[in-house]
Amino acid sequence: MKAVPIGSEKKRVVARVMKHASGDKRFKILEAHIKKFQGRQDSLIEVLHKAQELFGYLEDDLLLFVGYQLKLPPSRVYGVATFYHFFTLKPQGAHTCVVCLGTACYVRGADRVLAAIEAEAKIKAGETTPDRQLSLLTARCIGACGIAPAVVYDGATVPRQTPESAVAQVKGWLPHGP
Ligand code: FES
Repeated sequence: MKAVPIGSEKKRVVARVMKHASGDKRFKILEAHIKKFQGRQDSLIEVLHKAQELFGYLEDDLLLFVGYQLKLPPSRVYGVATFYHFFTLKPQGAHTCVVCLGTACYVRGADRVLAAIEAEAKIKAGETTPDRQLSLLTARCIGACGIAPAVVYDGATVPRQTPESAVAQVKGWLPHGP
C-alpha cells in the first residue's frame, strides 16, 4: 500500500487523478453514483462496491478519487478497502483484462468473449495466471455501451470485441503466446 500523500504532494496527486478521471467515462458514472448518495461519507462502502463493479478492482487513483469526492482522507478509504475481503486492490498480474458484462455488452456476446479468454488463459474471471502475467476481471457497464462489447486491456477500452479479437489481444501475454 502506498503512503498517504500529504500537503503539496496530495494536491499533485489529486490534480493527476482528476486529469485521469476526465478522460474515462467510468469516473463520470461513479461520480453520478456518489451524487445519488449526496456525497455522504457513510456511503463509502457502497461507493467502493460501485467503483469495483465499474473498474474490476480498486486501483490507487480510484481510491484517491473516491476519497476526494467524499471528502474523506485517503487513509480512511484505504483502510476500508483493505479491511473487507470482497475488495480487490490490485490485480496480481502484470497485465489486466476487464471484460464488461453489463447488459449492452452481454447481449452482444460479452459472455462468449469472456469464455474465450478463460479458455485461452486457463483461468476463470477473478483469477490470475500462475505466472502472474494476466489478471482476468469483469465489470458491469463501463460507460462504453455504444461500442459494446467492450473490454479494457491494461486500462485501454477496446470496442466491439469478439472471442477471436480478445484472444488475439491477450495471447502475447500468455506463456504459450507468440
Ligand atoms: S454494458 Fe458494457 S459498456 Fe455499458
